[in-house]
Amino acid sequence: MRLSRYFLPVLKENPAEAQIVSHRLMLRAGMIKQASAGIYSWLPLGFKVLRKIENIVHEEQTRAGHIPMLMPTLQSADLWRESGRYDDYGEEMLRISDRHGRDMLYGPTNEELITDIFRSHVNSYKDLPMTLYHIQWKFRDEIRPRFGVMRGREFLMKDGYNFDLTKEDALHAYNRHLVSYLRTYERMGLQAIPMRADGGPIGGDYTHEFLVLAETGESEVFYDSQVTDLTFGDREIDYSSVEQCQSVLEEFTSRYARTDETHDPALFEQIPEDRRRVARGIEVGQIFYFGTKYSEPMGATVQGQDGKPVPVHMGSHGIGVSRLMGAIIEASHDDRGIIWPEGVTPFHCGIVNLKQGDAEADTACDKLYAALTAVGLEPLYDDRNERAGGKFATMDLIGLPWRITVGPRGLKNGVVELTSRRTGESEELPPEEAVKKVAEIYRPHHQAAPHWEPMAKGSFHTWL
Ligand SMILES: Nc1ncnc2c1ncn2[C@@H]1O[C@H](COP(=O)(O)OP(=O)(O)O)[C@@H](O)[C@H]1O
Ligand SMILES: [Mg+2]
Repeated sequence: MRLSRYFLPVLKENPAEAQIVSHRLMLRAGMIKQASAGIYSWLPLGFKVLRKIENIVHEEQTRAGHIPMLMPTLQSADLWRESGRYDDYGEEMLRISDRHGRDMLYGPTNEELITDIFRSHVNSYKDLPMTLYHIQWKFRDEIRPRFGVMRGREFLMKDGYNFDLTKEDALHAYNRHLVSYLRTYERMGLQAIPMRADGGPIGGDYTHEFLVLAETGESEVFYDSQVTDLTFGDREIDYSSVEQCQSVLEEFTSRYARTDETHDPALFEQIPEDRRRVARGIEVGQIFYFGTKYSEPMGATVQGQDGKPVPVHMGSHGIGVSRLMGAIIEASHDDRGIIWPEGVTPFHCGIVNLKQGDAEADTACDKLYAALTAVGLEPLYDDRNERAGGKFATMDLIGLPWRITVGPRGLKNGVVELTSRRTGESEELPPEEAVKKVAEIYRPHHQAAPHWEPMAKGSFHTWL
């Protein structure tokens, strides 16, 4: 992409309505625009990152054996009356009636709809286990939408639902989700700590929330500092192995880590004092096992081995896809702007031409652009007729992790400058070396994508 042909409406001034840094930077970098309270348009740069996050979620879910699908945003109230939640859900549910006076609602979540699909088509224990998921917009009429995409009214969520014959099988599904979530967040450059949480309106005894530590987080959290030493890394996992998934769960949840809802001061006191931490966190996901809470009232049963109908054991598992963008920025920025982790950056590498219109500099930039594209990377070339200072400020604000700067002086010596946004360190090297180096940096990220091929362009929707 050439910046002169892109739509990147950056703001010079700090928008007054933004209280936290991620909201401020998303507005300033031209990523979102508020449409109405808690509802946003995703401008091209924001949309690009949203798709990257979504894609990682899809890749990690399908890797775990979960099946993608798509359910609508508008739902009929009837199904929610069956489960009893139409009355329970309260003011957060946006209720709508259609021209025939039928009660509809904009889905805040999908347990009822998926249970209805399941009961219509699945009859035998032989079809289990099964986990279906989708990534779809949700609406919750939050009383106080705030912090931009962090607490929106309309927001994008991945929600997955497992159907199992026994509690044991359903707990394996729970563990599988925990493992896939650890992988998902790490690919986005985030540490998200599973913490014991409260069931809330979904209900259930087994539930963990995943929290990214940040001062601006809405939840108060209490944990043993040893949990922050844990990483999943690039270890191999066999998702069908009950033992392997269980041992990851134990590794990541055996130390004390709880949100204020489940915090137990007496237990907390038992941790050595120098390891006790009280902090704040952003909830980026939650997993639940809730047994037969929906399958029983809604008649979602399968024929067991003895031919008798049994209600299936279920769980639901959510990732806050749009919120994640805010969480990533909260965790990775400085006073000049965003610093994207390589896994989710909207463009892999910026190209800054210090002397637009200079034949040699222009040709060198075009060649770099072609070479980066040829190795499967997406560059953003600032080809505007702007001062160097303005170009650097834009690149720093939008946070591409790598920048190649091209100017007549360097070209005389056959070199360009490769700069890391994170460390600010630069090195001079021949253009083809710079391309090689950037390609090397991204190799592990591309390889983490299950369908990646070295020359693949535009990895959208490869998970299908
Ligand atoms: N209003 C919101 N705006 C953005 N993301 C949200 C919002 N509410 C929930 N999410 C995201 O969706 C994920 C799953 O939702 P869920 O656990 O059902 O929400 P909650 O904990 O708010 O009841 C949450 O972990 C969070 O990341
Ligand atoms: Mg939650």
